[in-house]
Amino acid sequence: MSDLFSPLSLRDCEIPNRIAVSPMCQYSCDPDGLPTEWHRVHLGSRAVGGAGIVMTEATAVSPEGRITPHDLGIWSDEHAEALRPITEFVREQGSVPAIQLAHAGHKASKTRPWDGNVPIAPDEIDPDGADGWEVLSPSPDAYPPFSGDRPAMRKATQDDIEGVIEAYRDAAERSLEAGFEIAEVHAAHGYLLHEFLSPVTNRREDDYGGSFEDRTRLLREVVRAVRDVWPEGKPVFVRISGTDWLEDRDSWDVDQSVRLADDLAELGVDLIDVSSGGLHPEQDAPGGPNFQVPLAEAVRQGSDAAVGAVGGITEPEQADALVRNDRTDLVLVGREFLRDPYFGLRAAEDLETDAPEEWPIQYRRAVR
Ligand SMILES: Cc1cc2nc3c(=O)[nH]c(=O)nc-3n(C[C@H](O)[C@H](O)[C@H](O)COP(=O)(O)O)c2cc1C
Repeated sequence: MSDLFSPLSLRDCEIPNRIAVSPMCQYSCDPDGLPTEWHRVHLGSRAVGGAGIVMTEATAVSPEGRITPHDLGIWSDEHAEALRPITEFVREQGSVPAIQLAHAGHKASKTRPWDGNVPIAPDEIDPDGADGWEVLSPSPDAYPPFSGDRPAMRKATQDDIEGVIEAYRDAAERSLEAGFEIAEVHAAHGYLLHEFLSPVTNRREDDYGGSFEDRTRLLREVVRAVRDVWPEGKPVFVRISGTDWLEDRDSWDVDQSVRLADDLAELGVDLIDVSSGGLHPEQDAPGGPNFQVPLAEAVRQGSDAAVGAVGGITEPEQADALVRNDRTDLVLVGREFLRDPYFGLRAAEDLETDAPEEWPIQYRRAVR
């Protein structure tokens, strides 16, 4: 038995192996945020393909929290109902269904990547005729946009902040209704919660900006709200950017990530999913195989939290070594799962686990 195929127990949740499908936006909804057949096939195929966890794309907790008008949402009971057949199918394949709960902050109201990823102003429409909206930010003047013109931004008021916390709480309740086992709070990649964490984008002088304690307050309040409604036996993950990759200025870095991980573990977070960057166009990020693993490793060593590593993990032996050498507890695989939906099954074969038994019965004649 390889280490990659050892089960991971978090609370009452038994994850059959250490491979998770990393959250990946599909931009394939109508502007109502409801899943389509695309989502059922996309997520279902990766469950068939042997992933221990199948995580949804960033799923917006409110309509204005979408990156594009075509993002998945979980802001009404209708969304929960529409997602249920997907979680049921994922579970039937032996995978654990997880949902990433997101608010895009100032990176909201954009066209889809294949339409240029540029802001859609509140009085404009995207190429499919979907409306733009005003986006929310901790400090609108703090940073330049990644692409296109500056979006129409509004500084988050106390009411907005309370609304965001409530939206996360409601979204978690609906995720439970929809049948998800794991809720992941998205606090990475320059979206709203990360914008509050980083001194680069948070210049507030109220209780939500300034010191480490104040910049992390919103995330802690969101996590508390989610944990409040998420059952004791089910895990909560948080995805963070381990660093902003902006060493030339006061920014979010790995030391703060380690400190945050301990705070989050105390609030009942079971695993920190450690990604990086995405906050500022001047980021100086490395790339290549395992490029974010040292960040996950630092969080794992410096805090009480279990971690997930992600980024440039494409080979079964590579993924297995990360678990075997205690560098991470979970491996999240993104683009390789787009290239090969059966990455999990292939890994089982390559690493010589009892592969044929892992394949769905419908497919076994292909592997015996
Ligand atoms: C098409 C695509 C969509 C993505 N959407 C999300 C997302 O919704 N949420 C998120 O946290 N990361 C998102 N990411 C980042 C991935 O989850 C992952 O962290 C990144 O691709 C690095 O892993 P990889 O090298 O295995 O692809 C996306 C990446 C891709 C390629």
